[in-house]
Amino acid sequence: MLELKGLTTHYGTSQALFGVDMTLEAGQVATLLGRNGMGKTTTINSIMGIVPASGGSIRFEGQELVGRASFRTANLGLGLVPEGRQIFPNLSLMENLIATASNHLGLADPWTVDRVFALFPELETRVGSMGNLLSGGEQQMLAIGRALMTNPKLLILDEATEGLAPLVRQKIWSALTEIRDQGMSILVVDKNLHDLMRIADRHFILQRGRVVWNGRSVELDADQEARQKYLGF
Ligand SMILES: Nc1ncnc2c1ncn2[C@@H]1O[C@H](COP(=O)(O)OP(=O)(O)OP(=O)(O)O)[C@@H](O)[C@H]1O
Ligand SMILES: [Mg+2]
Repeated sequence: MLELKGLTTHYGTSQALFGVDMTLEAGQVATLLGRNGMGKTTTINSIMGIVPASGGSIRFEGQELVGRASFRTANLGLGLVPEGRQIFPNLSLMENLIATASNHLGLADPWTVDRVFALFPELETRVGSMGNLLSGGEQQMLAIGRALMTNPKLLILDEATEGLAPLVRQKIWSALTEIRDQGMSILVVDKNLHDLMRIADRHFILQRGRVVWNGRSVELDADQEARQKYLGF
């Protein structure tokens, strides 16, 4: 579904990605792991066209994404839950949810506000609240709901549960498990390796802008050396 080959990205003259290779099969959950500043957000933003790639290739269902405007990438069926959530502070929860809603691919069973509320019941009680008055957990659920309302085939989450209490984190993981079971493909960045091991099929570890390790959860679990070296635990 998604294939990155030799992806390079620069910020001005400073190079952040040095040839990232990774693949994600349809229906899979894959993770991007690595310590701070290793290039996870840059990889995601390059896929989405938010930060332009300087070289290499990103293919989504056979179509090249490098050089494509970010709205055109989104319209192909990629939904982003960005780092820091980026909820519109001056819009209500409901307005945030519907502001960017679309069904460009004409999916048969599109996401609705009611379906998002079924996934995250806590959002329904807060429909009129302004974005900036929502808790971190509510904002993250809203950011996921907002991305789902664009009816993506691939959902990309950058720091899925950062700064959230354990109970809220578990709600996010069970929601992601639920939509994965409904067939959604997911690429996720998070620091909670334990939770990711349960939900993910494959992991890609970035070190200074390169994928230095990839494998399945059982393999990552068994490879204490790689975990220690690249993740620090
Ligand atoms: N806007 C920017 N301008 C210049 N350099 C940047 C910019 N954003 C990121 N970088 C640099 O690119 C490299 C990769 O950063 P990136 O944000 O992709 O890492 P990350 O793996 O997402 O880290 P974190 O875990 O802290 O979110 C770092 O060296 C960072 O300093
Ligand atoms: Mg990041």
